[in-house]
Amino acid sequence: MPLAFLAIDQGTTNTKVLLVAEDLRVLARGSSAVPLDMPAPAWFEQDAEVIWAGVLDAVEQCMNAVPNVVLAGVTISVQRESVVAWRRSDGRALAPVIGWQDGRMAEFCAELAAEGADAMIRARTGLRLDPMFSAPKMRWLVDSLRSAGAASDDLCLGTVDAFLVHRLTGGDTFATEAGCASRTLLLDVDKTAWSPELLDTFGIPAEVLPEVRTSAGGFGRTAGAGSIPADLPVLAVLGDSHAALYAQGCRTEGAAKATYGTGSSVMAPAVRRHGFSGLLSTTLAWQIDDPAFALEGNILATGAALASTARLLGVADGPALAALAATVSDAGGLIMVPAFAGLAAPHWDRDAQGLLVGLAGDTEPAQVARAAIDAVAHQVCDVVDVIDDENAPLVELRADGGGSRSDVLMQAQADLLGRPVAVSAAAELSALGVVELALNVERGERGAGPGGAVARVYEPQIDVDRRAVARARWRDAIRRSRGLDTGR
Ligand code: G3P
Repeated sequence: MPLAFLAIDQGTTNTKVLLVAEDLRVLARGSSAVPLDMPAPAWFEQDAEVIWAGVLDAVEQCMNAVPNVVLAGVTISVQRESVVAWRRSDGRALAPVIGWQDGRMAEFCAELAAEGADAMIRARTGLRLDPMFSAPKMRWLVDSLRSAGAASDDLCLGTVDAFLVHRLTGGDTFATEAGCASRTLLLDVDKTAWSPELLDTFGIPAEVLPEVRTSAGGFGRTAGAGSIPADLPVLAVLGDSHAALYAQGCRTEGAAKATYGTGSSVMAPAVRRHGFSGLLSTTLAWQIDDPAFALEGNILATGAALASTARLLGVADGPALAALAATVSDAGGLIMVPAFAGLAAPHWDRDAQGLLVGLAGDTEPAQVARAAIDAVAHQVCDVVDVIDDENAPLVELRADGGGSRSDVLMQAQADLLGRPVAVSAAAELSALGVVELALNVERGERGAGPGGAVARVYEPQIDVDRRAVARARWRDAIRRSRGLDTGR
């Protein structure tokens, strides 16, 4: 009978569960879609109970596929920054999950910045003061639950990992993983502890927050729910993008990865902890003994840009849009800036507006599709430009996530970067990364693995001049989207 791990990967669009053997072979897959509501402009909400039901559903699909499996434990990777509020006494969700893309607290952040809080926050956390991170969302939940009369001694606030751990363990463990905690704006990342000064700045009571644990520090044992048996150890937890970095094996200077999801995370191992400009985040990627830091740029809309363009053009989905884009050699001068909720790294401008520049009377739908593909690649290049300048020049980009399955996107990425793009062979890197970390720790290996197999390497096919023109036109469009002077 095979011995396997139940690897839960709770993402923005889907909850996936894999049954993973000790040699990292995937024995079975289950998945369940997670609806995303936009009740107001720049508001993104999900339902924590639907997320939990999706976990149970996806686990059941796996257990039905390999009924005789012997489970060694559970691992978890999660969307980061999104915040759940739930009742400590019975585990029930108290409010919608506020998604990581949500910008409702932009004004609150601007006010804090005007009071001069930005520098202290950046020094303690490695992050910019931006509504994408968790603390402003937590503040919104604390205020709205308080005014609805919720008892604060029964309130739990945490990122999705803490909610899932609490549910899986039947309320026994109220803990979060250090890397997930590092995305809240409340963690002093040098001490790996909640910072009293930051709690005070954001007005979050310490008692509503989970305990911070190392990535494979043990998160209790399952209570048993649906097809999840009782008494399995919850072995390891990582943020999904951090898990992908671990699985990609990016350990050296010049290495970086991009995960193409709803948004994208471009991440490189940080060559130092301090001394960056703040255009990118310094994130705590994982902690086994000492924390491992990475430099990261989060892009709000990449897969979301493809999905929205597909809807506008009346094509089925992102892959169908990519197929349409592949029918033309370029966008015919069209540039799309998908600033649907403003722009995050490296522009950090929540007021930036979405744009389609260069629209003509004879513009073809395929050119619009191509402009959406190019927009994804350009946004990744914008982050790599900062990595080149501040960390170490990129040698090769490792790619993973749904968008990495698109030939047209990966070729556009290599063309606009001017460097090779190596696409991971594994489709579910985040889930596999956590299992790999748990296994390495169990075997006493503190370092990381060599990185997974590469399915295909895309080499740049356009010359330097063409690339420079394309990048300059994109930068011009970004300035317009931000209402800045384009120098014309
Ligand atoms: O920072 C947000 C990120 O962790 C979400 O990832 O894959 O759910 O879009 P994904």
